[in-house]
Amino acid sequence: MTTAADTKGGIETVPSTSRRSDAEREALMADPGFGRVHTDHMVAIRWSVEQGWHGAKLTAYEPLQLDPSAMVLHYGQAIFEGLKAYRQPDGGVAVFRPEENAHRFNRSAARLAMPELPVELFMDAVDALVDADRDWVPTAEGQSLYLRPFMIATEAQVGMRPAHEYLFLLIAFPVTPFFSGEIKPVTVWLSDEYVRAAQGGTGEAKCAGNYAGSLLAQRQAAEKGCDQVVWLDAVERRWVEEMGGMNLFFVSDGGTRLMTPALTGTLLPGVVRDSLLQLAPELGLTVEEGRISVDDWRKGAEDGSISEVFACGTAAVIAPVGHAKSSSGEWTMGDGSSGEVTLRLRSALLDLQYGRAADPHGWMRRVGS
Ligand code: COI
Repeated sequence: MTTAADTKGGIETVPSTSRRSDAEREALMADPGFGRVHTDHMVAIRWSVEQGWHGAKLTAYEPLQLDPSAMVLHYGQAIFEGLKAYRQPDGGVAVFRPEENAHRFNRSAARLAMPELPVELFMDAVDALVDADRDWVPTAEGQSLYLRPFMIATEAQVGMRPAHEYLFLLIAFPVTPFFSGEIKPVTVWLSDEYVRAAQGGTGEAKCAGNYAGSLLAQRQAAEKGCDQVVWLDAVERRWVEEMGGMNLFFVSDGGTRLMTPALTGTLLPGVVRDSLLQLAPELGLTVEEGRISVDDWRKGAEDGSISEVFACGTAAVIAPVGHAKSSSGEWTMGDGSSGEVTLRLRSALLDLQYGRAADPHGWMRRVGS
């Protein structure tokens, strides 16, 4: 085992001296769940007003030392991303559309008055961590390595202004998808009490606060017997926006048309959402970014013109919505089971990500050999 520092793509590499053994790793990867089992390494890069980005390092995964006055703990300057690395049929590893995450990360940073990370450095960090921890990329069907880049304000002072020091971190964990195994449709609660985002707010940014603010509504959804909350617009509580941390799609016109709520400034611009908008026409579907009211969703489900609804995101891939509940009633999509179009799109996306299908868009980035 080496401890010598090396530098790859601008990132100094100091390998962990306490990597877990093959047997330990295999035991941990047998049932990793989501976010419970971290890999051996992480990447850390610091930013300060004086030095800009500096000290990029791949090191052992380890706890942070944070001053109690670190600004993130008080004012919540914290953003994150989620992307995945997939084992390929030839044993190699490829990451799905990391540049998209790098760009969105920077849009989130700009919205929270945080420094933007050069896209090249983001990519170097991804390459370095996936390469160092490539044994943690699962080979089991349906599993993948989830990468979690994030940035926090570390400056130690409690005055209210953008911080002058930040820490970017990249960690990774092997995962089984949310809603894994048999693809069981979710039941959703349409929240007319809480909202996720309003025009001019932070809805488009992937900032930690958006997720903290969603937890109570998610708990309320669970109390109503639902798996997930569906967010409506903040003004009229009429237009459907998102489901939990995922984008929504509606299938209509006898399974030939796909509609997803347009990015009006309050929705998260999902990478999977964008990918499906590009993939679906290749499968013969018409796609549209539009808007749908709660009433039209309900009527469409009841008269069969909307045959399927699904949510999509990096963590969950594609999750069918089987049943919806709101304060004014409830309705079922089709017979409540996973729809054919939903499953076809899901397979098309997974086949591409696992290298079982061609990649005409060049979305998969190979890491290492
Ligand atoms: C993802 O789908 O990757 C997300 O970021 C959602 C997260 C709350 C798990």
